[in-house]
Amino acid sequence: MIKTVPVSLNRTIDDSYEISIGAGIFSEKVQGVFSTLKPTRVAIVTDTHLYKIYRDTLNVTFGNDARIIVYPAGESKKNFRTINGMFGELQEAGLDRKSCIVAFGGGVTGDMAGFLAGIFLRGVRFIQVPTSLLAMVDSSTGGKTGVDTPGGKNLMGVFHQPKSVIIDTDFLRTLPKRELINGMAEVVKHGIIADRDYFTLVEKKRTKIKKLDPDTMIEVISGSCRIKSAVVSADEKEAGLRQTLNFGHTIGHAVEAASDFKIPHGYAVAIGMAAEAYISQKRGYLSGKEFERITRVLKAYGLLKYAALSDKLDAGRIIHASARDKKNVASNVRFVVIPEIGKVREENGVYSFDMKEGELLDALQKVKEF
Ligand code: GLY
Repeated sequence: MIKTVPVSLNRTIDDSYEISIGAGIFSEKVQGVFSTLKPTRVAIVTDTHLYKIYRDTLNVTFGNDARIIVYPAGESKKNFRTINGMFGELQEAGLDRKSCIVAFGGGVTGDMAGFLAGIFLRGVRFIQVPTSLLAMVDSSTGGKTGVDTPGGKNLMGVFHQPKSVIIDTDFLRTLPKRELINGMAEVVKHGIIADRDYFTLVEKKRTKIKKLDPDTMIEVISGSCRIKSAVVSADEKEAGLRQTLNFGHTIGHAVEAASDFKIPHGYAVAIGMAAEAYISQKRGYLSGKEFERITRVLKAYGLLKYAALSDKLDAGRIIHASARDKKNVASNVRFVVIPEIGKVREENGVYSFDMKEGELLDALQKVKEF
């Protein structure tokens, strides 16, 4: 005998939130968000490096009742062991379901604090306060959270949207120059996949961006957030359009892994973007002129600095790493094809396409020239 009992879970969830971008807005915005959220307790997750710089700012903004959880800085700490330790601290600090976690830091902090918030007591609220350019323009928005496992980056995680994202461009002043460049890879990517005018703006404002001119930074960061937010709003769980944010990441992640993470994420993604744009050109979608414009901008920002290194990387490892990419379907390596700057190839709602091993090797040969 078989009996069937339905479990009806049809529901409308509104997880909408705002991204605020400005110079010197941190403390005031936090107060504003907390006056709406009214958290019972607050825990801030940050790393040792940022804690050294912003300890007083955090204490003044959040007060003595807030628990500050500090973990050793670095991607190598982005694992479940660190989460487990943080979990214990949350319990010890008495956080409950109405509490709030604050991610204060770069992408690693945001991913881990968001994951922690997603699983603690089956989910508590959190806010993102990104301090690196990469986190400001990319990882703090969209609700992807998680940790790395021995099998690969970000393989363990949940979608958990923040209640608010507060971007204070003043934090960029303490960001090492290399990290600023690292973040520019995602900025350039947003122009390439979605907005030609934005790409042109990024192309033109290089000097002001490198000098961290406040108004320019607000314009550039809000432009990127607008593009990312539109993509995430249309496809939160990456069923289609959100795959376009992975442009450059198929080869980029593989290069990053094959270099044993010595090539930083943004620089690796830039190599990946040059390589994937090259394959788009070889397939006849992208013109030579557009390809050159893309690589010129990447070079101008110093993002192809490690491209020659791809010669020293083991091609076998790159192929192996790309084959394990979580975006793949039925183990075929997939990538985003660019027909022109500001557009992506789309066919019947599909935004990523199979890449052949020969194309990957050919593209890696090409990027060595940069
Ligand atoms: N960083 C890619 C995404 O958020 O989907």
